[in-house]
This record gives sequence, C-alpha cells and structure tokens, in this order.
Amino acid sequence: METIRGKYASHMNHAAWSACLQQAASVHIDLGTGDGRFVSHLARAYPRMLIIGVDACRENLVDSSRRAPANALFIIANACALPPELAGVAAHLTVNFPWGSLLQGLLQPDSSLALALRRLAQPAASLDLRLNAGALADEGYSLEQGTAAVQTMLAHNGFNLRAAHQLTAAQLKAFPTTWAKRLAFGRDPRAVHLSALTR
Ligand SMILES: C[S@@+](CC[C@H](N)C(=O)[O-])C[C@H]1O[C@@H](n2cnc3c(N)ncnc32)[C@H](O)[C@@H]1O
Repeated sequence: METIRGKYASHMNHAAWSACLQQAASVHIDLGTGDGRFVSHLARAYPRMLIIGVDACRENLVDSSRRAPANALFIIANACALPPELAGVAAHLTVNFPWGSLLQGLLQPDSSLALALRRLAQPAASLDLRLNAGALADEGYSLEQGTAAVQTMLAHNGFNLRAAHQLTAAQLKAFPTTWAKRLAFGRDPRAVHLSALTR
C-alpha cells in the first residue's frame, strides 16, 4: 500500500506492515483524514497505538505527515477501494465530516464504502462518525435525512448504533480537526455525532 511522510510517498511492503502491527497495542483508522491533524493529535495522546489516516488526496497530507509522531501512518487510498492489508485490523474507526464519494458511500447501504468500513473493523470495534449539514445538503439530504440514511447503512452492515447527538458550536471548536474548526466559525455549524460498535 502507498504511504506518505512529508513529500515522500512509498510502497509499504508486507514485512514493514507486519512490524507496524506487532508494535501496536491497537489500531485506529481515520478515513477521509484531510490534513492529518486528527491523526497526529491521537498519535501523541496514545503513543502505544498505531493511528492510521487514509485520504485520497496526497497534497493534503504533506505537511502534517512530515511532523507526525512515529506511531502515525498516512495511507493514500480511495476509501471505496482500500488496500487489502487493512482488513480486520481496526479496533477504532473514525470518519469526520466526510464529503464527496466518502459521504455518498456512507449514505448507501450497499455501497463499496459501506462494505469496506465493515471489512476494516475487528469484532466489537468502535466507530465514531461526524456528519455536517452543509456536506449533506450538497448530496440532497437534510441533516435529519442524512443521519437516518447513515444509521440505516450502519445497521445493514453489522454495526449497532449506540448514540446520536447534535454537536454544538463549542464542541466543534474544541474538536481537533481542521474541518471542525472551519464549521464552528462558518455559516452552518450544524453537525451530528454517531457512535456505533460492530456486532
Ligand atoms: C471535509 S474534509 C474532512 C477532513 C478531516 N476529516 C477533518 O475533519 O478536517 C473531507 C475529506 O474526505 C476526503 N475524501 C473524500 N472522498 C474520499 C474517498 N473516497 N476516499 C478517501 N478520502 C476521501 C477528502 O479528500 C477530504 O480530505
């Protein structure tokens, strides 16, 4: 699979990947990680975990990946067609403020993204998903309709929903991703946090 650190992209071979997994107490995967700020934050907070950020856009990852701790790994991939090495490794999954094909996949119960999400997860893995109203409006959904569609997708793909609640502007401001801050100070800060566990 293709990884990036700073400006340098490289192919991670099987031996290097196995070594990464062996050293980690557990694995967290953040899909659609953007500039990787969330991954760096988690990697500093949980030095024994391997924190993986996946994004289709390599330019976004250049800056953060250069300065990220050693237990942070950035993978360039389309979340709808993930490297097979990632199957079954994640104890924790996050998708924060998805847009585009990432969001479209979450809205459809039979999408390749929905299947990929389930495939990444270990049994009893946790999933935290944050959706914002503006991105859903771009797909033709209200916040309520989009939340319901994603809940249906999760139930259909082996996730038990635990909680769904609205995020306040203060919570967005405090949340350590670049997009959360943009939303908090933007025109439409409405957002929802869904959490689930795999069955
Ligand atoms: C609104 S940004 C959110 C970034 C980050 N999670 C945050 O909270 O700051 C959405 C991200 O999803 C990524 N994305 C969209 N579709 C994707 C796909 N199919 N596979 C991987 N990443 C995707 C985009 O490149 C972008 O970085």
